[in-house]
Amino acid sequence: MCGIVGYVGKKNTKEILLDGLKELEYRGYDSAGIAVLSNNKFESFKAIGKLVNLQEKTKDFITEGFAVGIGHTRWATHGKPTELNAHPHLGENSYVVHNGIIENYSTLKKELMESGVQFLSQTDTEVIVHQFEKNLKSMHNAFEAFRATIQELEGAFAILLVTKAEDKTIFFAKQGSPMLVGINAEGEKYFASSDTPLIGHCTDVNYFEDGDYGFVSAEELSIFSKDGEKKAPHFSKLSTDKLSAQKDGYRFFMEKEIYEQSDVIVDTMMGRLSDEEILFDEIDKSLFDGIHEIKLCACGTSYHAALSASYLFERYAKIKTSVEIASEFRYREPIMTKDTLFVVISQSGETADTLETLKMAKKAGLRTLVICNVDNSSMVRLSDASILTRAGIEKGVASTKAFATQVTLFWMLTLYVAKLRGALKKEEIIRQISLLREVPASLIVTDELHEKIKRLSKRYLHGHGFFFIGRDIFFPLALEGALKLKEISYLHAEGYPSGEMKHGPIALADPELFTIALLPQHLLYEKSKSNVEELSARDSTICAISPLEFNKADDFIKISTCRDYMLEFFEMMVVVQLISLEISIRLGNDVDMPRNLAKSVTVE
Ligand code: F6R
Repeated sequence: MCGIVGYVGKKNTKEILLDGLKELEYRGYDSAGIAVLSNNKFESFKAIGKLVNLQEKTKDFITEGFAVGIGHTRWATHGKPTELNAHPHLGENSYVVHNGIIENYSTLKKELMESGVQFLSQTDTEVIVHQFEKNLKSMHNAFEAFRATIQELEGAFAILLVTKAEDKTIFFAKQGSPMLVGINAEGEKYFASSDTPLIGHCTDVNYFEDGDYGFVSAEELSIFSKDGEKKAPHFSKLSTDKLSAQKDGYRFFMEKEIYEQSDVIVDTMMGRLSDEEILFDEIDKSLFDGIHEIKLCACGTSYHAALSASYLFERYAKIKTSVEIASEFRYREPIMTKDTLFVVISQSGETADTLETLKMAKKAGLRTLVICNVDNSSMVRLSDASILTRAGIEKGVASTKAFATQVTLFWMLTLYVAKLRGALKKEEIIRQISLLREVPASLIVTDELHEKIKRLSKRYLHGHGFFFIGRDIFFPLALEGALKLKEISYLHAEGYPSGEMKHGPIALADPELFTIALLPQHLLYEKSKSNVEELSARDSTICAISPLEFNKADDFIKISTCRDYMLEFFEMMVVVQLISLEISIRLGNDVDMPRNLAKSVTVE
């Protein structure tokens, strides 16, 4: 996830910006850059890779006296992680840094190009600075031009802009992406995407609200609300604990990432949903020409996302779909036919087994697609096409938001393919898109839910094992729930299809066997319920998760009543993630760095 810093003051601007970016490293990035405006003269530097590269490039650059400066760490979403795509982006006399996604950038870019503007990067961000300069030419007032520019942007953003037209000022705007400004007794002003770069520099901070925009100079901090009214800053004291600030006050990164899912999914969908169809600018429709089968291949949690996708591809796109565990596939002499689209799914894009299967598919002449979170990763570079999940960096080793974005993206892809194949009626695609728009709300963690799970977790710290059970797409979710629990609690857990328990595992049923039962209202409810009743009759301890009251369970977690099983899927996903989290915390484990596990598995 990108990070922003800004500074107005008399100290060493370069060092302050670089130190600020260092504090944002935990958010993940693939390039970084700064721009400093002093005495109406700009200096700007960008570098790909780690911050040391930027430090190296700026080592002879000295800043003295009053300056305004902006800096950025970029996590690629539109365009590769190259120096040209790194921020700050330059117009003629201005620089901009931006977090978020400008949804209408292609329309704005087309108009600007038609009027003769030349673009240097592939990013959505660059339109902001050119649009600002276009407005400045007609308005002759930097603030009015900035205000007009913001009003023309659609999407999510946190923006800092500096311009020679007003060379002692930083213009800012916030819509959807986080940003705050901090002050101190020396009259300096600091901007950042989160608290950490400001700790030690500022005493008080103002967190911008959506729609806020304005400008900051040495003398002034002017904030306007989205309806154009001037508003007073609302300062609060800044915490002094950096680690806790990085975790936004949550106990663990995994907890933060569970809570973040609702926002992250908005990024995954941003610019990709129109009223009637799914848009993926990054792939060509011809990728699917002559394709009669989809083969999905992945490891671990990504494999569970693939398995979930297989239900949706067959149900919505009516295309034969198979799913493979990469470590198995690579050694089993599989038959690969050229009418198969080979899709690999990987959060990191580096997992050795998955990467190897991609190479095999390429060698066999199959068309390939990767669903990935890291641009420029090995898989993205190797495959014919790629779609990014835009989850931002995931620090917790146990994957949560990466899984949520993978499933959402697959759901969108199934609708995209359904449209291409004429497999779903237009009305149904419209309905599905309206459901997708409800996913962020389904992912919100309420205090009530979290408290309930915290309380209930104390009863599940022993026993001889857990079964997470579900039917249809809730079976991969059961697998994922069990994997989460295993990873961070070190308790034995299995995911199982509900209907399969009676074919063997039910022999284990007794009060010390814990069953976590997924009972969606909108998919095979009666069938799933009977399976849980069979376990209940054999005295297994049952924790049921459902929108419908279920009195055969020992514990019951009620999710909200929603209008489709996919929304139930996402609500239940949050529940199983929180169950694992709370059990692990009670057991005193290191939630973010569980024993024996690595975040990226680049060995066989
Ligand atoms: C589990 C988890 C792993 C990964 C797996 C594949 O929480 O994160 O199971 O899903 O190692 O990694 P990627 O998705 O990077 O290929």
